[in-house]
Amino acid sequence: MTKAKSPPPEGSSPQKRELLFPGRPSFLTTLVGIGRACVGLFMGGLIVLGAMSYYDHNPLVARQLAFQGKQVHDFMRAPFKPESRGVAAVGTATSGAASADGSISAQGQKIFQSHSCYACHGRNGAGTPMAPRLAGIGSKYTPEQLLNLFNHPSPAMDSGGMPHFQFHADDVNALIAYLDSQH
Ligand code: HEC
Repeated sequence: MTKAKSPPPEGSSPQKRELLFPGRPSFLTTLVGIGRACVGLFMGGLIVLGAMSYYDHNPLVARQLAFQGKQVHDFMRAPFKPESRGVAAVGTATSGAASADGSISAQGQKIFQSHSCYACHGRNGAGTPMAPRLAGIGSKYTPEQLLNLFNHPSPAMDSGGMPHFQFHADDVNALIAYLDSQH
């Protein structure tokens, strides 16, 4: 009585043949079938989602998209307008000379912009509800007074969130030159 005499367990020996010519689905072919079905469902879902994204009609989103499209269109059609002031500031920054009056004021503009003074005091120091007008500040304070004000900010400046700036006298002179040119 050896083991070789007992009949082979079902499906063990004809397995190879069954893989090549599947008559009745084996465990493996069933697994492959399920896998294919999963991939098919997944791809189908992607296609459905893709189609849905084309036919989604949220009126708010559509309006916003239309508005942005129009803005881009208008911007592209508008004639080119260089920002002369910004260009002037860049020009003097690269030239480096600070002797002429124009370049001192450009220096002041650079300080005004790089320290984000405009965020509270408005473009060109025109003033906002958050912080007062700075244009023409030279007729309110002398350079010494202004430097002193930066070194010892008023309670209103502190409560309004104005940062403490460590300016030199040159910076203050430049700021005044710039702000006085913004009447
Ligand atoms: C976060 C906001 C903020 C920023 C940024 C800011 N400020 Fe101010 N600033 C204020 C507020 C608030 C006051 C006080 C307003 C008041 O007195 O009622 C003030 C006051 C001043 C005053 C006194 C004005 C006056 O008429 O007495 C000067 C000068 C000034 N800021 C200059 C500057 C400069 C220059 C910069 C940039 C380097 C700057 N500020 C950045 C908020 C700001």
